[in-house]
Formats: sequence, C-alpha cells, structure tokens
Amino acid sequence: MFVLLVVLAVVAVYYFLKLNYRYWEKRGVVGPKPNFLVGNLGKSFILKASPGEIFADVYNQYGDAEMVGMFRATTPILLVRDPALVREVTVKSFNSFRENDYEVSKKHDPIFGRNPFVLKGEEWKVVRSQLTPGFTSGKMKWLYPYLVENSKNLATFIQNCTENTDAKDICRRFTLNNVASCAFGLEGKCLEEENSEFRQLAKDFFSPATGFFLMTVSPPLSKLLSVSFIKKEMEKKFIQIVRQVLQYREENNVVRNDYLHVVSQLKQTEDFKFTDEDVTAHAAGFFGEGYETSSILMSFVLFELAANLHVQEKLREEVRRVYEENGNELPYEVLQALPYLDGVINETLRIHPPMFSLQKICTEDFNYGLRNGKQVTIEKGTPIILPVYGLHHDPKYYEDPKVFKPERFVGENKEKLTKYTFIPFGEGPRICLGKRFGVLQIKVGIAYVILNYSLSVGKKTQLPIRYDPINIMTVPVGGLWINFSRL
Ligand code: HEM
Repeated sequence: MFVLLVVLAVVAVYYFLKLNYRYWEKRGVVGPKPNFLVGNLGKSFILKASPGEIFADVYNQYGDAEMVGMFRATTPILLVRDPALVREVTVKSFNSFRENDYEVSKKHDPIFGRNPFVLKGEEWKVVRSQLTPGFTSGKMKWLYPYLVENSKNLATFIQNCTENTDAKDICRRFTLNNVASCAFGLEGKCLEEENSEFRQLAKDFFSPATGFFLMTVSPPLSKLLSVSFIKKEMEKKFIQIVRQVLQYREENNVVRNDYLHVVSQLKQTEDFKFTDEDVTAHAAGFFGEGYETSSILMSFVLFELAANLHVQEKLREEVRRVYEENGNELPYEVLQALPYLDGVINETLRIHPPMFSLQKICTEDFNYGLRNGKQVTIEKGTPIILPVYGLHHDPKYYEDPKVFKPERFVGENKEKLTKYTFIPFGEGPRICLGKRFGVLQIKVGIAYVILNYSLSVGKKTQLPIRYDPINIMTVPVGGLWINFSRL
C-alpha cells in the first residue's frame, strides 16, 4: 500500500510539474523548452554557464519576440526583450516592478540587509531618499581631490609594474584606496602595502559571487542555506572602524567632507529614525559597492585601450590637451566635460556591463494587452529578467556590436541610440545610486594612467574573452593582463 502511495505521489508531482511547464505556452508567450526540474537554467546548475550568459543566449535566439517565457527550476520567469517593455518595467509602471528579486535577511546580514539594492517597499523608499544626497554632483566635487591624489599614486605605483600586470589587481587596489578615503576618511594604503588592512578587509568582507549566484539560480535554496554576504568577524571590524573614526572626529572637532560625515549627519535629522547600525551599514555599503563593480569596469577599460591602439592614442590626445591647458592639472569640471573619455567608459560598459542581467519581481499584476490572440497578464510574484548583455550586443541597436567604438556615445550619435537599450546601471527610480561616484573614480584614474603610460595587451590574457560561469558579474576567465611602458 505504502509503495503504491509513493508511486501515486510521484506520478501526481510529475504531472503537476508537466502542467506547470505549460505556463507560458498557455499565455501565448514563446520560450525555450524547459528541462524537468531544472527548467532553463540547467547549465548554471552544473556550473557550465552563468545565468547571465544563458539569458543572453535566449535573448539572441528569439530575435522577433517582445518577451520570452522561461523557467528557473519550476518557477516561471519572464525575460523582457523589447526596449519599450524595459521602459515599462523600470520607469512607466515602476509600481508593478519596484523590487529586486533578491532576499537578504537583516537578521543574518545586518549590513547588506540594509542596502537599498535588497530593501523592499516603504523601507527602500525611505533609505533611498536618505542616501541620495550623499551622491549629488556637489558631493562628488567634495570627494574629487581624494580621487586625484589616489590617481597620482596609482600612476607612480605602475612604474614598478612589470610586463603582464594583473589589471584587476591594480584597479582593485586603486578603488579600495578611493573608498577608504571617500567613505571613512582613512588611508587605504592598498597600493603601497601588500597586506594593508583594507585589502584584507575587502578579501574577507564581501563574498558576493557565491551568494548572488545562488540567489540567481535558486532563491529558495539561498534562503534555506541562509547565505550570508558579510562574515561576522568583518561586521565587527566595520563597527569598530566606524566607531573609532566617529569618536576621533567628535573629540577633536574634525569635520571631513566624506560619505561617513554625510550619513552620520542623518542621525541628527528628525524626519527619519537613523541608528548607529544604519550609519555603520551605509558607510560599509559604500565601501562594499564602491570598489568591486568599479574595479571590474576599470580593468576592462584598460584592456580595451590596450587592444585598440587608435582609441588609446585619441584618448591620450584629448586628456593631454586639457591637462596642459590647465597647468598640468585636471580640474573636476574639465574632466567631466571630456566627450571621448565619456565615450570610452560608456562603450566599455556596453561591451562588458559588470552586471550581465538584472532581476526584478512583479509586485502588482500587470496587464500587457493582447499577444498572439491571448491576454497577457504578468502576474504578481513573477520574476522579471532585464537582459543587459543581450540588449547591449544586439546588432539591431548597435552595428558591429563586438567592435569597440567609443564614437557611438559621442555627440549626436549618442542622441540617435535607441532608448532603453543601454542599461548598465539599470534605469528609473532604482537606477544605481553610486553611478556618479563609480564613473568619476574610473575617469580620473584612467586619465592619469593614459597621461603617463602606453598600454598593450599582455600575453597571459586569454582571448577571446570568456566570462566566469559562476559569477553573475562579467569576470573574465584567466584575468586581464596589461603591459605598461612609461611615456
Ligand atoms: C561603476 C560601476 C557600477 C555599476 C556598473 C553599477 C551597476 C549597478 C546596477 C546595474 C544596479 C541595479 C539597478 C537596478 O536595480 O535597476 C546598481 C544598484 C546600486 N548601486 Fe551600483 N554600480 C556601480 C557602482 C556603484 C558604486 C560605486 C556604488 C556606491 C558607492 C553603487 C551603489 C549602488 C546602490 C546603493 C544600488 C541600489 C540602488 C537601489 O536599489 O535603489 N554602485 N548598480
């Protein structure tokens, strides 16, 4: 009898899942055939391809579709292809898609659990509005002198780099120094010392690769395993650093224009309840978010400049001209107004967006009208994929998408680009909060490198570039290696 019941239960589950896999078909939405239990992310489960790569492949396979129905294990997810629908999700119908599809508990992760990226509902709205003033262009101007100093140090540091220098390593040291000085007012010493406290902290502090990977392929599993992003010892270390710095400033009446100053001021406002934990979490959040995506992007900028010598030459001419015109300095406004530098950064973001894809969740039923004779309603709770990489590489929007052409983002060419096909920072009310800071630190760092060195691609770089399958970010397999020669 027991055996019969088990067999019946297995058969019932099998048919239920079979029926579930017809979810998109019933709604007239096209999509790849799911495999039993793993859905369409099977290659990710066996670590053969990152979810982002799978989404990019599916994007390419369905050239004419506005949207593609897929399955993450047994959960129906919707990949949005049409830029008009990207606009709908990120801006026009923001209320129906206002949350990111990541679950992080504040109990397990008191620091990352307070980050706007994972916050939901009203709490996200309040925290986002509290932190936004810390990222205005006025605040960036405050921070600029620290970035210039660190960039000059970077140029000096590269003098001692041999051929085949690990681009990611030097960019990470540089961005860590930036966040140490801009978030906490401390000297990171990450270029100068192999085992500086901040390098150590970064190594042990944040392990986003595994956590995000699990959350992308299987949110229930990541919840079950209580994946924690920030180790407990590191959490304590951060609390200690913030306490010491704040105490020192209070006792010595020091006011320093940095991010810690901005967030600690929030404690004094009456509009919001802002605790000591919030101050620590947001200063640590700036630290965590400030170096990783930026150093990935900056290492790709160095690589593309090394691989495209005519671009490198043109950029150097642009930077050198204004540098000499300004008495061998690069004032903030002057750097910000350089069109070709801006084009180089944007074109790198197009070809190698640090985040392959974005994952939202439908928060209110959304009626998308008739498709293939059927009414399409995106149901509350449906995960939505925005295929950043797929859009950026679509020849319909970018001619010769593999070719590095910064001119696409310069002058009137920029105006001609199809809106919502370039979304490296997301779009709408949830757009990356640190975009200004991230781009600024890369611009100034690259400017000082290019003024002083000529770059070529090191032998150790594995070409063509492939991305690490267990990372939701575009991390190149084997690293990027650059030869620097002093000019
Ligand atoms: C330059 C490299 C960077 C890239 C490519 C990048 C990309 C992104 C992307 C794609 C998102 C998700 C947007 C969405 O959900 O639609 C995001 C969110 C966010 N980023 Fe960045 N980011 C970068 C640098 C930074 C820096 C330097 C900081 C802070 C110092 C930062 C802070 C944040 C925060 C707080 C969010 C969450 C915003 C929210 O949900 O309200 N990012 N970023």
